[in-house]
Order: sequence, then structure tokens, then C-alpha cells
Amino acid sequence: MAYSLLPKSSACTIFLFCFFFLVAVAVDAKLVHSDGVLHRPPKEKTSHLHFYFHDIVRGRNQTVVRVAGAGNRTSATGFGDVVMIDDPLTEGPELSSKLVGRAQGLYASSGLQETSLLMAVNYVFMEGKYNGSSLSILGRNTAMRPVREMAVVGGSGLFRMARGYAIARTHSFDTNQATVEYNVYVVHY
Ligand SMILES: *[C@@H]1O[C@H](CO)[C@@H](O)[C@H](O)[C@H]1NC(C)=O
Ligand SMILES: *[C@@H]1O[C@H](CO)[C@@H](O)[C@H](O)[C@H]1NC(C)=O
Ligand SMILES: *[C@@H]1O[C@H](CO)[C@@H](O)[C@H](O)[C@H]1NC(C)=O
Repeated sequence: MAYSLLPKSSACTIFLFCFFFLVAVAVDAKLVHSDGVLHRPPKEKTSHLHFYFHDIVRGRNQTVVRVAGAGNRTSATGFGDVVMIDDPLTEGPELSSKLVGRAQGLYASSGLQETSLLMAVNYVFMEGKYNGSSLSILGRNTAMRPVREMAVVGGSGLFRMARGYAIARTHSFDTNQATVEYNVYVVHY
């Protein structure tokens, strides 16, 4: 019976209480005062990232694959289509300019009346100190409008605890590809 394990005498209870209290203090001290100094949480930083996103929908170097859809090809907005991407991110607007990362994830056509994409995409960077760090963007992308804003909801590596927003502007597009300029503002540790 579990209750029989409980101490019967009050002296024993007080001893156990003190024991666990001291253990708790010791654990806390290790986290907070490991070198005798009170550690404050790391200071927040703000970063601004600028790059170009290339969504290549057809051709030999296609980076986009439609993975599901409602099958209603008469919908002007492609409502219901779900697309997987692994799009290159470059320093300049040309695809041949320096590769700085990739945008990997999904977008889904979620607007009946207007082209409006639900973006659920991880932007992983490859350059210098950012190499391997990623930002997660979840937002509404009204792709036919010249400027749109999406939320940065998190990140990894250098961008741990990230939050912020991305401003996307279409730089150029044709039937095979779209190039989008991104300005991303993030607060992170
Ligand atoms: C595909 O990519 C390769 C290597 O980057 C490039 O040489 C080629 O011109 C591209 N092809 C098309 C059709 O864009
Ligand atoms: C397909 O989309 C068109 C245009 O939005 C709409 O008029 C039609 O009712 C849709 N058909 C079905 C079966 O959903
Ligand atoms: C980024 O990291 C990967 C894996 O750690 C490494 O192979 C690659 O050379 C690095 N790239 C740059 C530009 O530092």
C-alpha cells in the first residue's frame, strides 16, 4: 500500500522536507549561480536579412512539386492545391548569384476569391555564422499583390526563440518561375 511508505513521525517528515528543499536549492544554484554570478537571460538581438527566393515551377531545374489538390482545374485561384518546395535563396536577384540558403516546406492555395497561399516554410541558411540556422515562416501570402507580410514564428540555431516578420516583394515572374525579394526582421537570442 502506497500510504504505508509515508513517514509516520513528524521528525522524519521535517527531515525529508529539508532534504528535498536543499536538493532543490542545489539544482537551482547550479543553473543560476554556477560561477557565483547571477546569470541573466541572454540579451535579445534584432537581425535584418535580405535575400531573393526563386520558385521554379517548371523546367529542368524545377523546385516545386504539387503534392495534392482538390482537382478543380477551373478554379482561378487553384484553391485546394498543396505544393512542396525546396527553393534556392540567393544573395542577388539572379539565380546564378551566391546561394545563401533554401526555403523548404509547403504552400497551399487557401483563397477562393483571391490567390492567397498559406505558407508553412522553413528558411535554412548556409552562409557564414548563419550556416545551419533556420527560420520558420507561417503566414498568408497574397502572391499576386506586389507586397505581402508573413509571420516568423520561430527558429533554430542562431535564431532560437525567433519572432518577427517577413516582407516579400515580387521582383520578377514568368510562366516558369517567380523571383521574390525578402526582407526579414527577427528578434532572437
Ligand atoms: C539549370 O541549372 C543549371 C545549373 O545551375 C544551369 O546551368 C541551367 O541553365 C539551368 N537550366 C534551366 C532550364 O534553367
Ligand atoms: C470549380 O471552381 C469554379 C470556379 O471557382 C466553380 O465555379 C465551380 O463550382 C467549382 N466546381 C466544383 C466541383 O467545386
Ligand atoms: C555549412 O555547414 C555544412 C555542414 O556543417 C558544411 O558542410 C558547409 O561547408 C558549411 N558551409 C559554409 C559556407 O560554411
